[in-house]
Amino acid sequence: MKAPGSDNNQEITTSRQISEEHFGRITGYLQKKYGLRIPAEKKVMLESRFLKRLHALNMNSFSSYLEYVFKEGKTDEYLNFIDLVTTHKTSFFREDYQFNFINKILPQYCPKAVGNHRLNVWSAGCSTGEEVYTLGMVLHEFKKQQSNFDYKITGTDISRPSLLKAATGIYSMEELQGLPNDLIKKYFNLQDDGKAVSFSNSEVKARIRLGMLNLNNPAYKLEGTFDFIFCRNVIIYFDFETQRKVLEKLVSKLRPGGYLFLGHSETAIGTTLPIRSIQPTIYQKLNL
Ligand SMILES: C[S@@+](CC[C@H](N)C(=O)[O-])C[C@H]1O[C@@H](n2cnc3c(N)ncnc32)[C@H](O)[C@@H]1O
Repeated sequence: MKAPGSDNNQEITTSRQISEEHFGRITGYLQKKYGLRIPAEKKVMLESRFLKRLHALNMNSFSSYLEYVFKEGKTDEYLNFIDLVTTHKTSFFREDYQFNFINKILPQYCPKAVGNHRLNVWSAGCSTGEEVYTLGMVLHEFKKQQSNFDYKITGTDISRPSLLKAATGIYSMEELQGLPNDLIKKYFNLQDDGKAVSFSNSEVKARIRLGMLNLNNPAYKLEGTFDFIFCRNVIIYFDFETQRKVLEKLVSKLRPGGYLFLGHSETAIGTTLPIRSIQPTIYQKLNL
């Protein structure tokens, strides 16, 4: 892709630093729009991420890059920009005690003897999909034991590149770390190049929906309520007020008796929300 105003033959002499003014503009914008808190210590990391992008676009200044990103009507580059300023670290069975917890409570939550159950699960801030497919494998295994059980998984994020990767279901061997071998054999096919695998269970895939959703939006346009909401390692990047508002909106989308799962360094303790703490990072909505 060629950026406007770029010069093919000109050697790129980009300043390696973002001016304080530009850094302030970027962080101010991200805080207002997404609730993201970007401390000054992150400036160097952002500079290195932006520089790579500037080189790829053959651009030579941060100001022209920002102009390009925020051009009227927002270019596709805006979506890459959002991807660059967010952290996408994730893995299969991350914080595996939470999936053990699900395995433990599912038989009581969806008792075999009581009619049909359709569990509605939301992975809010799903990144590249590892969390979504982990939930898919856990719920599919349970469905094999209980035929009147069914489920639907919604994965949302603000990063389009992450969601596109999630939709492919293709992962490198390194990205499978933490995934037991028997599950790799059951749920993944080796790609032709032998270097990556793809999630191959079409029954699970058919129950997964992915889409863009900014958790800082005033309301979430998602139908109905959820039995389980996973919002792990996402609110940690938000300022305090956004954390409070997001937790409130997440709990309002939770079915009474349903569960909220947060990341290991996140908490809902100290809020006045209608939830009770089951164990660190796991909360249940009260039946009021
Ligand atoms: C560190 S990843 C966590 C992935 C996964 N939940 C896990 O714990 O492994 C954080 C994700 O939150 C997303 N995110 C950040 N701000 C967001 C917002 N305002 N709304 C929705 N997603 C957001 C990022 O794009 C990123 O993919």
